[in-house]
Amino acid sequence: MLAIVLGTRPELIKCAPIIIEAQRRGIPVGIVHTGQHYSHELDRVFFQELKLPKSVANVHVGSHPPARQVGFMVLRLADALAELKPKVVLVQGDTNSVLAGALAAFKSGIPVAHLEAGLRSDDWDMPEEANRVLADRISKWLFCPTELQRERLRQEGIAHDGVHVVGNSIVDAALHYAKVSYEVSDIAERLGVTSRKYAVLTMHRQSNVDDYMRLRGILETINDAAVHHGLSVVFPIHPRTKAVMDAHGIQCGSAFIPVEPLGYLDLIRLLSSADLVFTDSGGIQEEACILRVPSITLRQNTERPETLHVGASALHHEIDVEKLVETMRIQMTRPRNWENPFGDGKTASRVLDILAPHLASS
Ligand code: UD1
Ligand code: UDP
Repeated sequence: MLAIVLGTRPELIKCAPIIIEAQRRGIPVGIVHTGQHYSHELDRVFFQELKLPKSVANVHVGSHPPARQVGFMVLRLADALAELKPKVVLVQGDTNSVLAGALAAFKSGIPVAHLEAGLRSDDWDMPEEANRVLADRISKWLFCPTELQRERLRQEGIAHDGVHVVGNSIVDAALHYAKVSYEVSDIAERLGVTSRKYAVLTMHRQSNVDDYMRLRGILETINDAAVHHGLSVVFPIHPRTKAVMDAHGIQCGSAFIPVEPLGYLDLIRLLSSADLVFTDSGGIQEEACILRVPSITLRQNTERPETLHVGASALHHEIDVEKLVETMRIQMTRPRNWENPFGDGKTASRVLDILAPHLASS
């Protein structure tokens, strides 16, 4: 069996193409859920919309301070893996669930495949940076989205024959579900933005939202700059961000349309027709680039520099309306003809071609 250890929204979305392709090929595959995300709108909705099989195990870790969360997960995942005896454990990305999944498998003697390997922000204040580096070091297969990551791993001394450039499975997901979303999602109508210029904003990074003064500053800056450009801002609010807004009475400005976190079909439908995207999300930086929607990455750095290299995105970190107005102008007037650097949508197939021989007779 191929065990996919995952725990958060982006992992469900980026692992979906692998799970569905494995099922199509008759490869036994099972989701081992850590329970890091558990709210319906961050979890169940994706099982339903992406038609994922029920988890074969869920260790229900829930929310805790990071060290405890990782510790609980390793302990409980070790037990779940001992029972399931998978041939390979696959983890995707850079969350605490990825670190715990990789550690639990490695220490149980089960080889680890890391999907989206080799990304680096070089920002060790980000909890995700340690997760990426540590998961890469103990993985047998490292599936890199582009050549940039293979080169970075080589510089770090990881150059064995388990390193493969396969594209990013977000391309498989985004292209497929964008098509489906046009048929089934009426989110633009529901929010009244069919004939309005609008941006989509998502924000949940610790560095942007945990300090309420910074969060308030970013939201005010985006509001003022959006009013200047005549844009509405659809803002699906992540629970981490919502908690800080509620605790400090932070309100959205007049340009904003605040909404609950959206299901994937609604989110991808909204993104596809947006004039601009503001985000600190890893996945949405990629999706905007793939769907040829210009974006502004609300960070000082990114582990996805491909989006900057092709001109799809620009970094913006300052609380400075004038500067943001100008960055928005540049991004919104850019020709939307950049190449998608993240692959051709056949990542799941490549990953399974490589793993299949190791999964035989499971
Ligand atoms: C986590 C990942 C981040 C990823 C993001 C995807 C780490 C260190 N962070 O961040 O890399 O980009 O998921 O969305 O692994 N909460 C709920 N419901 C839930 C889960 C969380 O309300 O289902 C609230 C809790 O108050 C919790 C807070 O959100 O304390 C943060 O959750 P957590 O999973 O720790 O981190 P995220 O910010 O979601
Ligand atoms: N997403 C979604 N609904 C939302 C916000 C995001 O379906 O309201 C999707 C988004 O399209 C992307 C993924 O969730 O595929 C990104 O997740 P998130 O931003 O939480 O995490 P990150 O990618 O930063 O780790």
